[in-house]
Amino acid sequence: MGEACMSLTGESSTRKTLRGGLIGCGFFARNHMNAWREVEGAEIVAVCDRDAGRAKAMAESFGIGGVYTDAEAMLAAERLDFVDIATTVESHRPLAELAARHKVAIVCQKPFAETLEDAQAMVAAAERAGVPLLVHENFRWQKPFIELQRLLQQGTIGKIHYARLSFRHGYDNYKNQPYLAEVARFAIMDVGLHLYDLARWLFGEVETVHCRTQRLNPIVKGEDAFVSMLGHAGGAVSVIDCSFYSVIDPEPFPQTLAWIEGDRGTLELSAGYRLRIHRRGAAAEEIDVEPPVPSWGEKPWHVVQDSVRAFEEHVVAVVRDGVEGAPTGRDNLKTLAVALASYESAERGSVVRLAGGAA
Ligand SMILES: NC(=O)c1ccc[n+]([C@@H]2O[C@H](COP(=O)([O-])OP(=O)(O)OC[C@H]3O[C@@H](n4cnc5c(N)ncnc54)[C@H](O)[C@@H]3O)[C@@H](O)[C@H]2O)c1
Repeated sequence: MGEACMSLTGESSTRKTLRGGLIGCGFFARNHMNAWREVEGAEIVAVCDRDAGRAKAMAESFGIGGVYTDAEAMLAAERLDFVDIATTVESHRPLAELAARHKVAIVCQKPFAETLEDAQAMVAAAERAGVPLLVHENFRWQKPFIELQRLLQQGTIGKIHYARLSFRHGYDNYKNQPYLAEVARFAIMDVGLHLYDLARWLFGEVETVHCRTQRLNPIVKGEDAFVSMLGHAGGAVSVIDCSFYSVIDPEPFPQTLAWIEGDRGTLELSAGYRLRIHRRGAAAEEIDVEPPVPSWGEKPWHVVQDSVRAFEEHVVAVVRDGVEGAPTGRDNLKTLAVALASYESAERGSVVRLAGGAA
């Protein structure tokens, strides 16, 4: 770190350009790669997929020199500062532990892990190695939620007592992500984790969960809808709801909608990225929080694409400049605990109280 290098503009800089290796060259990794091309301070120098055709195709699309089918071989051969793990969940623990053994920073897609035991082992491995571990929770890097967080921090609506985060749609996710139809635990472990991460970040730590799951689409094996009521430290309650089987025109996917009430007002994020601020005794104000469309992106995916760019800029700030990760693996243990408690609640038909010691 800190060695001199040439920046993209050709100016000498003491700020190092980080060297990254991508592991997993599937559907979502293309967003990672497109965004990495835009992010200053990092460059992907090697890609790896156990499917040689996928690794080669990704390397060719993005002009990457290092192409591997084995992550161990990539880490042994390349001088990397970080790995960007974009594989599905079952490989996350072995890959994170491998990266920790090589003492490189770890960025891991969600779901971080399927069990708390695996997630705790990954956190421990990174902490032992002294390397940062970040989870790719890009919903909190979406422009509308950055704006909501800013307004909440400013005290715009006062103390929060109620909130709702809603992600309901009928988009065919199974075309690009066929594994979603096959997994026993689907909606909560897919989008639910993002929503719980947002809920913890915006409304405070979760103390209780009461969840009902539904399996609506006959082609899926797991739950494709759920409603959770969360009790937050500080007294707020939130309703987190999600469905992959809703008929809505125009199709809102991939937007998350929000309603947040405080003692001084309400924040309302509705379809089309309209953010209405209701203040006691004043007319409602509406602002446009639509994210920009990246040069490589398109609507309606821009909210996701721009959030991946924002998250990756944050990765550089963490790995190069020592900024605290948002979220770190250790923080994400608590999000995973809420997801696992949701399944327990749905199975038992009762409220589950979180131990508070998940981390
Ligand atoms: N943050 C988001 O908004 C978002 C959106 C979509 C997907 N995701 C997540 O991204 C991850 C990947 O999803 P996807 O749809 O791109 O999956 P995918 O199946 O299309 O791609 C995964 C790739 O990883 C490769 N792979 C698996 N294990 C490997 C290993 N040990 N070494 C090397 N390569 C390996 C596979 O061959 C495959 O090409 C999932 O965890 C998913 O939940 C996140």
